Amino acid sequence: MKLISPSILNADFARLSDEIISAEKGGADWVHCDIMDGHFVPNISFGPFIVKTAKKITKLPLDVHLMIENPDLYIEDFIKSGAGILTVHQEAVVHLNRTIMRIKDLGAKAGVSLNPSTPVGTLREIAEFVDLVLIMTVNPGFGGQHFIESSLRKIRETVKLREEMKASFLIEVDGGISSENIKRVSDAGADVFVVGSAIFKSGDIPAKTAELKNIVNSSYV
Ligand code: DX5
Ligand code: ZN
Repeated sequence: MKLISPSILNADFARLSDEIISAEKGGADWVHCDIMDGHFVPNISFGPFIVKTAKKITKLPLDVHLMIENPDLYIEDFIKSGAGILTVHQEAVVHLNRTIMRIKDLGAKAGVSLNPSTPVGTLREIAEFVDLVLIMTVNPGFGGQHFIESSLRKIRETVKLREEMKASFLIEVDGGISSENIKRVSDAGADVFVVGSAIFKSGDIPAKTAELKNIVNSSYV
């Protein structure tokens, strides 16, 4: 089964609990938490406290995406706060193998994310160690941006690399995913779909979540 991971960055934080529960009602599989530090990306979002809050609201796995410099400093905090999957950016880490091993030692699933301009080939030596590869389909920093079409080629390349390396990581996509493009992205080979504004700005969170989940799973062979 393919998975939907709604990004709460675009949720109404005054009603965070209702928003997360609504996505869960629609069949959300994970809850995506976007952590931005104002350095690695030109925006600031929230820290471990909100992850801890989300953990109290839902039993779904928290899919925490660190768009921060020096993520090693905060890995433990985020895992203690409830991150089930913790993803770091390849561009923000010097000793990626060490960072990935540390995340796993601390009991979480480990992911690595690539910015749109970072080539898939850079994953080769880490492929067998990660649980998830997050292909950014927008330049990270903001919700509501347009999907970068060349990401489809990049997703296909990631599928190929996974086969070549006999690895088993999930391929997640993040940015600009909507009802209009999710089938194409799914057909290219993505397994997990982060969706922010298309769900939380839709006016009907459960219905939109269910619709997207249905599209990717009915095209799944
Ligand atoms: C972008 C974030 C995304 C974003 C997705 O930097 O990593 O998770 O919130 O939002 P949409 O779906 O609106 O592009
Ligand atoms: Zn994200």
